[in-house]
Amino acid sequence: MNNKIIIINGPNLNLLGEREQSQYGNTTFDKLKDKCINKSKEIGLELDFVQSNIEGDLVNIIQESRKRFDGMIINAAAFTHTSVAIKDALEIFKKPIIELHISNIYKREEFRQKSLISDTVTGGIFGLGIDGYILAIISMQNLLKNENK
Ligand code: DQA
Repeated sequence: MNNKIIIINGPNLNLLGEREQSQYGNTTFDKLKDKCINKSKEIGLELDFVQSNIEGDLVNIIQESRKRFDGMIINAAAFTHTSVAIKDALEIFKKPIIELHISNIYKREEFRQKSLISDTVTGGIFGLGIDGYILAIISMQNLLKNENK
């Protein structure tokens, strides 16, 4: 059976392609979703791709994911820098998690240079644009393969 993974996107990422193109590029959210679904299919992963602007919804999604998915990729967006609730939910997941940022958060404003979730996740990708999503899917496949050995 294929491994199942989830990509969780936080606030304002639904407006990719429209918001701050200099940071996030011009690929729309729907295009990004298609690319991720295609890549996952190609390498034999089942993917759910979700987005919410609401912190509590993200906590619920993360909690429910522990029963349904083998791995998680999360771009918590602005909540990366503020949300203890999301960090605590991620602690409960207990399976591989990749933290993802489209932009290089360490090159930006000081408030973005602190991630509350980095010490909870397996690894991270930042500053590589939309390609980071594809790289994260490939890395997740490798992490899950190594787990099943
Ligand atoms: C982001 C970086 C965050 O600081 C920001 O709030 C976002 C997107 C990124 O993908 O680069 O919304 O997570």
